[in-house]
Amino acid sequence: MIDFDAIPRAALPALLRRMPKAELHIHIEGSLEPEMIFKLAQRNGVKLAYPSVEALREAYAFTDLQSFLDIYYAGASVLLKEQDFFDMAFAYLERAAADNVVHAEVFFDPQTHTDRGVPFETMIVGLEHATRRAKAEFGLSASLILCFLRHLSEDAAFATLEQAIPYRHHFIGVGLDSSERGHPPEKFARVFARCRELGLHVVAHAGEEGPPAYIETALDMLKAQRIDHGVRCVESPALVQRLARERVPLTVCPLSNVKLRVFDTMARHNLPALLEAGLVATLNSDDPAYFGGYINTNFVETFAALPQLGARHAYQLARNSFDASFVDAAQRQRWVDQLDAAFTAAAH
Ligand code: HPA
Ligand code: ZN
Repeated sequence: MIDFDAIPRAALPALLRRMPKAELHIHIEGSLEPEMIFKLAQRNGVKLAYPSVEALREAYAFTDLQSFLDIYYAGASVLLKEQDFFDMAFAYLERAAADNVVHAEVFFDPQTHTDRGVPFETMIVGLEHATRRAKAEFGLSASLILCFLRHLSEDAAFATLEQAIPYRHHFIGVGLDSSERGHPPEKFARVFARCRELGLHVVAHAGEEGPPAYIETALDMLKAQRIDHGVRCVESPALVQRLARERVPLTVCPLSNVKLRVFDTMARHNLPALLEAGLVATLNSDDPAYFGGYINTNFVETFAALPQLGARHAYQLARNSFDASFVDAAQRQRWVDQLDAAFTAAAH
């Protein structure tokens, strides 16, 4: 038994940083730092709409999800070659390892690239190579999850799946991202059914800006195993009860939620209520280059703004990240043992 009450509040920031954790909601294109955007633009002869790194960073003043997505897709336009995808992913994985992320399940948006003429193979080979190098250099395990863009048609998603099938062994699952409002999960029911037949894991963004009903249809029609964001579930008490009962993980991203105005301030974030309701909530960075921080910054800023969160919640969030991952039970247990050791040491 870990004596959480023996861990002083002053020790929390260091413990949050030090504890082993999994990151389950990170869009690799959202890890593209302005410096890397400029470096790749120069390397590839791509003209950018911003004169400098500083000018680009200043444009990161978002009012909602769509205002972010417009800049995020523009930033991704510098990615052309296999080496570009490798450099982007390896930089993220190196940064994640420094935050004591021991496992990452990483989203990528193939349509953002194939629609610009980048071959599917160029992208996935670069990304996969980076995950292999990170395993060798940092011992960080990483898997890829292919996301369909929900503002595009289901036929376009089927065409992307067709292109992905030769690389089936390079990714573990599929997700659904981009503009949520007006694009409910049920729009993609047939393509997700096909993905399940292929043995792919299924996740979906739902209940970020969209209503609780989108969380329900992600579960019922897509058979989503995790819900990305999901914070609007609290508007439906029956849904909260169901998520708790079925132990459906939510991959919550607090800095993202504040930047995209899902919550006015961090102090108003509903993470404490989600944990209080017994939900399998996890904490993640979403698009760290755009939202002001990687996973440890999310942990430290969230706990600083919400005094009701303490060591017990820190442990629960890290524990949930392993329980919610698509990793076998034996490997999960090894990470949970490391987590227990970190908290036992902190309580002495
Ligand atoms: N929501 C939807 N689509 C996205 C996001 C997000 O937070 N980040 C990157 N694509
Ligand atoms: Zn996201």
